[in-house]
Amino acid sequence: MKITVVGAGNVGATCADVLAYREIANEIVLVDIKEGLAEGKALDIWQKAPINQYDSRTIGSTNDYSKSAGSHVVVVTSGLARKPGMSRDDLIGTNAGIVKSVTENVVKHSPEAIIIIVSNPLDVMTYQAHLTSKFPRTRVMGMAGILDTARYRAFLAEALNISPKEIQAVLMGGHGDTMVPLPRYTTVAGIPVTELIGADKLNAIIERTKKGGGELVKLMGTSAWYAPGAAAAQMAEAIVKDQKRVFPVCVKLEGEYGINDCYLGVPVVLGKNGIEKVIELDLNAEEMAMLQTSRQHVKEVMEVLEKLG
Ligand code: 2OP
Repeated sequence: MKITVVGAGNVGATCADVLAYREIANEIVLVDIKEGLAEGKALDIWQKAPINQYDSRTIGSTNDYSKSAGSHVVVVTSGLARKPGMSRDDLIGTNAGIVKSVTENVVKHSPEAIIIIVSNPLDVMTYQAHLTSKFPRTRVMGMAGILDTARYRAFLAEALNISPKEIQAVLMGGHGDTMVPLPRYTTVAGIPVTELIGADKLNAIIERTKKGGGELVKLMGTSAWYAPGAAAAQMAEAIVKDQKRVFPVCVKLEGEYGINDCYLGVPVVLGKNGIEKVIELDLNAEEMAMLQTSRQHVKEVMEVLEKLG
């Protein structure tokens, strides 16, 4: 199995590191436009192999996609990260061009690949990858839901003083302040979360989750990488190992939830064919209204992309 990670910045390098030490593929290629960066980070990860005891081979390349040829999965992390005061949508002008050119290279060298987009604004960059690749929706997806759900689960674990392993949750919608965490689908070892935490505390956690990325940008001056990199690696793992795992993933909706032609996070089954099933939950009116608000926001940014040409 071969996985390529494009972008050797913080998120891309973290993703490649997780893929290697968990031996998710035997060949991991890291590509970056900056001379020597991908080669250096790939070599550093490879030199960690004797210490952490893995045999996945990591290879770096400065913009030479021939090294990525025949990849089963390509994770795209390229583009600018947010700075304090910026929204993810502010990145569209620069990142759309980058994602377009990366996707062209992916299509040329790995025409059968499954593409996982991590670049922001996430939902609309996934749309860009779809426009450029013309791949079916099963093979073009975005990573956001695992990350946003992980933040929600981590905050809950802390508030309840319970292991994060026990927290299961569903979160839908776009990767932004309109995302939709769903308490009705949140459990702690099977116990509905609402039996363990008061409404005020839960609402505060939901609000913190929605702005979870921004909280880190404020603290660090740039966006997060450990959880985003690990989340993308988890999606790649589900695909290359054909695990049929259920994750919230950004996918093109084609009528599900009454929504057409919009990229939004919803629960899906991930396996060797990419998105093998879109799961439709029976949302109540309030949940559906929140999803529609999120759809509206993503749709507006998709239109900005269309105007950019
Ligand atoms: C975040 O939410 C990078 O958008 C990503 O941290």
